[in-house]
Amino acid sequence: TDTWHCIGTLGDLFGERACKGVEIDGVKIGLFRVEGIVFAIDDICTHGQALLSDGEFDGHEIECPLHAGLFDVRCGKALTPPLTRDARAHETRVEGDTLFVRLA
Ligand code: FES
Repeated sequence: TDTWHCIGTLGDLFGERACKGVEIDGVKIGLFRVEGIVFAIDDICTHGQALLSDGEFDGHEIECPLHAGLFDVRCGKALTPPLTRDARAHETRVEGDTLFVRLA
């Protein structure tokens, strides 16, 4: 879509964890911070009803908490079984300390 959604400040969004689930226009989105860059992908796993942002996040890989499938948060690519479908990735932009996301 054309709309950039203002999500909040990085300081508020990311505390101890470098990942965070938010809802944008009714869509659950997972935000993942990799070396200071924030990436956004669909938070609901492409394999089942699990929220990726609840999983283990390491480097640029998020592990689904349900069956441990791995996604690359930078592009949404499904990396390991049982995943067969990539997650949708969304555009992000940071102005000052404020994060904006544009849904794909
Ligand atoms: Fe995510 Fe099965 S629900 S790997």
